[in-house]
Amino acid sequence: MIRTIDLTVRFGRRCALDGITAEFPAGVNGLIGPNGAGKSTLVRVLATLTAPTSGAVQLDGRPLAGADLREVRRGIGYLPQEFGYYPRYTAREFVEHFAWLKEVPAADLPGAVQGALERVGLADRADEKLRRLSGGMRQRVGIAQAIVNRPAVLLLDEPTAGLDPEQRAEFRGLLRELGADSSVVVSTHVVDDVAKACDRVWVLAEGRPVFSGTPEQLAVDGDVEQGYRAVLDSAREEAA
Ligand SMILES: Nc1ncnc2c1ncn2[C@@H]1O[C@H](COP(=O)(O)OP(=O)(O)OP(=O)(O)O)[C@@H](O)[C@H]1O
Ligand SMILES: [Mg+2]
Repeated sequence: MIRTIDLTVRFGRRCALDGITAEFPAGVNGLIGPNGAGKSTLVRVLATLTAPTSGAVQLDGRPLAGADLREVRRGIGYLPQEFGYYPRYTAREFVEHFAWLKEVPAADLPGAVQGALERVGLADRADEKLRRLSGGMRQRVGIAQAIVNRPAVLLLDEPTAGLDPEQRAEFRGLLRELGADSSVVVSTHVVDDVAKACDRVWVLAEGRPVFSGTPEQLAVDGDVEQGYRAVLDSAREEAA
């Protein structure tokens, strides 16, 4: 369980996150919102990469502030919105590298890497260099590195970007599996991802949650897209 308490992040005068108090329990938690809403900032704070300006984050009841970050990071998987890859690495080498960074014990490492590559459907391309893989395949390698340490907290920033519709559908299946044994926070632009793969959804606008609930609760007449637009419209009206 991840909890944020009055979490605020400012970059100079700009307030990227404006006092977010939220709980992200086990299962798949979706973050959706327009460009600049603060999704990546929130995910980065949970990944311990951006320090809050004020407020707090708790992972399983333990405050992040003052915690041993190396230890905390061992239990986290993170896929950044944009990740640099090493073109000369093979998919396997890339995932091995992250497994090593996360201190997966040496004896477990080959099995963990193979398992992660299998889960994202890349076992048959594992020994190809990353520069020879398609963008969607590289995205899946990114997901493989995030899950290689079997994290209790899995943070995925726009994981479906660059996936084709079939891969996207497969990925939703994988998300559901991953949500069965960890707290997953996944940001997306795609309402359909939220509608089909998330147990709960947060709509962010200008650094604030303007909706939280199940996709069914967000939907208007069974249509999640329509509900999402209505929530954003009323947030805009309130701000005006
Ligand atoms: N390092 C930074 N320095 C200054 N401003 C930043 C920084 N990172 C983010 N911001 C600002 O914070 C706000 C939230 O950005 P963030 O990247 O979290 O949004 P997002 O919801 O992920 O957007 P997108 O959908 O485009 O990925 C934006 O106004 C952005 O310009
Ligand atoms: Mg983002």
